[in-house]
Amino acid sequence: MNRPIPPLVGARFGDDWWQRGVIYQVYPRSFADSDGDGVGDLGGIIDHLDHLGPDGLGIDAIWLSPIYPSPGLDLGYDVADHERVDPLLGSEEDFDRLVAEAHRRGIRVVVDLVMNHTSDAHRWFESSRAGRDGPHADWYLWRDPSGSGPDGRPLPPNNWGSIFGGPGWEWEPRRLQFYFHTFMAEQPELDWRTPAVEDAQLRMVRGWLARGVDGFRLDVFNVFLKHPDLPSNPTRAGATAWDRQLHLYDRDQPDFPALIGRFRAVLDEEPGRMSVGELFDGTIETAAGLTTDRHLVFEWSLIEATWTASDIRSVIGVRESAFGAGRWPTAVLSNHDRPRHASRLAASIGAGDPDAISRAAAVLLLTVRGTPFLYYGEELGMSDVDIPSEESVDPPFSRFSPEFHLWDRSRCRTPMPWSPGPGAGFTTGRPWLRLGPDAETRNVDAQLADPTSVLSTYRALIALRAATPALQVGSLHAHPDGGGEVVAYTREIPGQVILVLLNLGRRDATWRLSAVAGESGWRPLVRTAKATAADEAIAIGATLILAPDEGLILEAVRPEA
Ligand code: GLC
Repeated sequence: MNRPIPPLVGARFGDDWWQRGVIYQVYPRSFADSDGDGVGDLGGIIDHLDHLGPDGLGIDAIWLSPIYPSPGLDLGYDVADHERVDPLLGSEEDFDRLVAEAHRRGIRVVVDLVMNHTSDAHRWFESSRAGRDGPHADWYLWRDPSGSGPDGRPLPPNNWGSIFGGPGWEWEPRRLQFYFHTFMAEQPELDWRTPAVEDAQLRMVRGWLARGVDGFRLDVFNVFLKHPDLPSNPTRAGATAWDRQLHLYDRDQPDFPALIGRFRAVLDEEPGRMSVGELFDGTIETAAGLTTDRHLVFEWSLIEATWTASDIRSVIGVRESAFGAGRWPTAVLSNHDRPRHASRLAASIGAGDPDAISRAAAVLLLTVRGTPFLYYGEELGMSDVDIPSEESVDPPFSRFSPEFHLWDRSRCRTPMPWSPGPGAGFTTGRPWLRLGPDAETRNVDAQLADPTSVLSTYRALIALRAATPALQVGSLHAHPDGGGEVVAYTREIPGQVILVLLNLGRRDATWRLSAVAGESGWRPLVRTAKATAADEAIAIGATLILAPDEGLILEAVRPEA
């Protein structure tokens, strides 16, 4: 099917949007429901593009968590057909309309590709498990047993496990072989060493590019390749079965950069396309090493930091030294797998007003060097929601807890509250997952009316970033004095210096403004503890007082020539 690619209208940034822009993650089931079945859908996203676009939040691209047909055991990350849209979320036409409507507003579209595994309901796997002769026989990681146990039962080929808990090998009586799964048994691992698998994946990628998508998020990409001989991993001490192994052979293989390079080359055939790989369970150095121009890699140092000056300062330093000047980092505080940061950061210090922390964290996210990725609802300061266990919709958690080393991810995937009233403007039906208890007051309409809200702060910060090249691409310099409880850094390009101050202490902090490069003063641009920062320029030598969890962004004022 060859459809014309809808033109992109009014985009703020050109081919470097992946670097200068802000990317917003939509979890489709929870964003907005357009047909009243209680589940968010593509129509709902289209209806709310103005919340995201130039007249709203002002983001530059949306990343859609998986939209493909799926049995839903891993909520869409168990894909039954990578080339189609899940009818639960809409039709093929709805997807094309979404791309066209997003492009009409200058918003790029990034889709989530789950290429490490499929659902066991995928036709490739159904054919592969049926016997050793079919066209897909070697498309998955099949191996003979290593022997048989005292009871005669076949023994798995090696000691690899599943991160969700339990063994990584599943017996298939029809083939008399095991298949491997890093995730659930219903998510069998593809064998990327079979050339036909790579061909099929790249064909699928070209299909989405032809439909106008601008980029891809690659699920658990550093796991695609395993050691060809599948040796057992060495063991070590650890809290879960997964942590009790050194994952030498089931991820991060030396020929992976070449494989991902072939995928990237397909995107590089046209300007303006990008990808972001999800680093699965690895180090920041691995993430930086896999980063190339236009092809970003998530790493988790910010998402794992506590809300203390020492931790944030050290994470900024680690990021800067791992990525250096030549590689471009990402910045992430929340996603669909982790506790929302409005809950997590206050909990990490056992104190603080979550809304003040959300506003200050937004300053960090949108001013640190790297492409910011927002998770839907964080612009409202949404927090995790207590979900009774019988309502949990996270099978890996329900099945494998406590061996599953994550948590009940339903808590961070609850519906977006748009307005007061039943269904919170998310649905006219019964929401698939309960709304947060504060949806009546914490919603888009209420926060739009309040200039001090988390949403108003995000809008101001994103607008500032879009107008400030130093915040997009400038180098980052930590303040030489350290700063006590105040995290301080500058972002600089020739002719523009921006100073960022964040008081992460529990008391008011003072900050004496000094000159970095011959300024005559500093002009406040955004101040999170006040509705506006419409202050006069502040002279060098003046002392500022910052409230706890206050963020302040200032621009250097040059002396009159
Ligand atoms: C990624 C996804 C997560 C999913 C897993 C398996 O980590 O972010 O939600 O469960 O991959 O596909």
